[in-house]
Amino acid sequence: MRTTYIQPCLLALQLLETATACLFHVPGANDDDAYKAVNNERRSLPKEAERTAIQDVRVFDGSKFSIPQTVCLDGGYIVNLKGCHTSSKMINGTGKFLIPGLIESHTHLTDMQSLENITSYGVTTVRQLNCRNSTRCDPMKNQPGLASFYRAGMSAVGKGSMHEKQDPTRPKDTLIGPDTNVTEFTEWQFRNGSDFHKITAEVNGPSLEQQVEMVQTAHSQYQKQTMTHASSIMAYQQAADSLTDGIQHIPDDGILDASIIRKIREQNQFVTPTLNVFEYAYRDPILQIFFGIEPGSNRSLENAETNTRLLYQGGVALVAGTDAVGSMSVNGTEVSVPFGLTLHYELQNFVNIVGMSPAEAINAATRVAATWQRLPDRGSIEVGKRADLVMLNSNPLLNISNTLDIQKSWVAGVEVSSITKSSA
Ligand SMILES: *[C@@H]1O[C@H](CO)[C@@H](O)[C@H](O)[C@H]1NC(C)=O
Ligand SMILES: *[C@@H]1O[C@H](CO)[C@@H](O)[C@H](O)[C@H]1NC(C)=O
Ligand SMILES: *[C@@H]1O[C@H](CO)[C@@H](O)[C@H](O)[C@H]1NC(C)=O
Ligand SMILES: *[C@@H]1O[C@H](CO)[C@@H](O)[C@H](O)[C@H]1NC(C)=O
Ligand SMILES: *[C@@H]1O[C@H](CO)[C@@H](O)[C@H](O)[C@H]1NC(C)=O
Ligand SMILES: *[C@@H]1O[C@H](CO)[C@@H](O)[C@H](O)[C@H]1NC(C)=O
Ligand SMILES: *[C@@H]1O[C@H](CO)[C@@H](O)[C@H](O)[C@H]1NC(C)=O
Ligand SMILES: *[C@@H]1O[C@H](CO)[C@@H](O)[C@H](O)[C@H]1NC(C)=O
Repeated sequence: MRTTYIQPCLLALQLLETATACLFHVPGANDDDAYKAVNNERRSLPKEAERTAIQDVRVFDGSKFSIPQTVCLDGGYIVNLKGCHTSSKMINGTGKFLIPGLIESHTHLTDMQSLENITSYGVTTVRQLNCRNSTRCDPMKNQPGLASFYRAGMSAVGKGSMHEKQDPTRPKDTLIGPDTNVTEFTEWQFRNGSDFHKITAEVNGPSLEQQVEMVQTAHSQYQKQTMTHASSIMAYQQAADSLTDGIQHIPDDGILDASIIRKIREQNQFVTPTLNVFEYAYRDPILQIFFGIEPGSNRSLENAETNTRLLYQGGVALVAGTDAVGSMSVNGTEVSVPFGLTLHYELQNFVNIVGMSPAEAINAATRVAATWQRLPDRGSIEVGKRADLVMLNSNPLLNISNTLDIQKSWVAGVEVSSITKSSA
């Protein structure tokens, strides 16, 4: 159903679409060739997976760390948790803590150097929620030693919606109007290599009927999932009703009703609240203007935080994602929602604001993220899983900020060559 209320400007993902036009504000950045030359060349050399024994390391099992054991990696996979039988590269894991590689479930990452940057923070899987140009995004898939990359295609954005206004360079004939055949639009995105379909629910966005049609097309024709942007109470209701798989963001314009929270849980939908971007937006006066957050309106950071807490307490699965865009220029001023670091911030939000235990927060970026987004080959440290691993110097169950205390990491058994050493 079309709704008639006008929200001044939707929070959250407006950054995304404009990011393509504004990224990095280097001269010529809007020109694809210049962009490619500046940011789409790998700086690090691809390496091969080596048989590796991580010795005497404590291993996270989803709730606690084990006594020291030796984890063997071979051919990109975890092959043994009790040592390697053949000669291998030795890594001293004494006093260290091994967790699964982190899955960042909501970014707008469009270039290789940003992929290198995010990988340096222990991120081993990245999901990009709106890829406008598959030619630009797809080279990021299957880069040895860099986070593995999954993407949506072009988001289903409505004519006359806030997301259209935020993205003036998007070709008008790709917008969804009342007469658009959304089955064809969805088919086009999957034909173009999308791993999942993205829908933007908002005022003047696709109608509920159109959202349902896109969800059904993705499910029945492609056996793929849909992710629906929703950052208001109204959009949450539509997202829930459409039976989309993942609801992205969290309403900040009111408090979610117990009935919708129950519905989301009972329908087996999950939520990626991206509290991180709300924290950034409400903190920064420039971003507040950009996101149309007006003093005295019904929108507040407290609403976003309370809603996330209510979903958690209501038993809804929460997945860690940040809405990071890197750096961009807003009205002539540089703002940054950095890649990588912000995923660690989201884990801190989950503990300090939402009330998760540190183990639950880690799971939201590992096993829970993998399970709900159908990545059965990763998310936990078990024989047969991909060797996506992060070795920490200090115990993240004692302080979630310790996920930043990274010693080494591996992507599919390839040791990551550049680690950002950081704390809190
Ligand atoms: C997509 O990106 C590629 C590589 O950067 C560029 O050559 C091409 O012109 C872009 N296509 C569109 C439609 O922008
Ligand atoms: C492994 O590291 C521990 C702690 O730093 C150290 O005490 C030990 O000597 C190291 N073992 C080897 C074989 O280097
Ligand atoms: C990657 O990180 C470096 C260092 O933090 C920063 O200078 C650079 O701009 C980042 N690159 C991209 C493409 O974001
Ligand atoms: C993929 O999308 C681009 C525009 O981003 C378009 O030029 C191209 O034809 C599409 N490819 C397919 C196979 O649909
Ligand atoms: C929409 O497109 C699909 C796929 O091409 C087609 O089967 C269907 O009939 C179209 N729907 C309408 C209302 O034209
Ligand atoms: C918040 O205010 C906007 C603008 O007045 C209104 O359209 C919207 O329905 C309000 N949100 C809720 C949950 O009432
Ligand atoms: C842009 O910046 C100018 C000058 O600093 C300011 O007057 C204006 O309000 C800003 N507009 C927005 C939309 O941020
Ligand atoms: C966790 O570590 C951070 C960074 O070292 C520190 O600022 C914070 O106070 C610590 N929290 C607790 C509860 O110890």
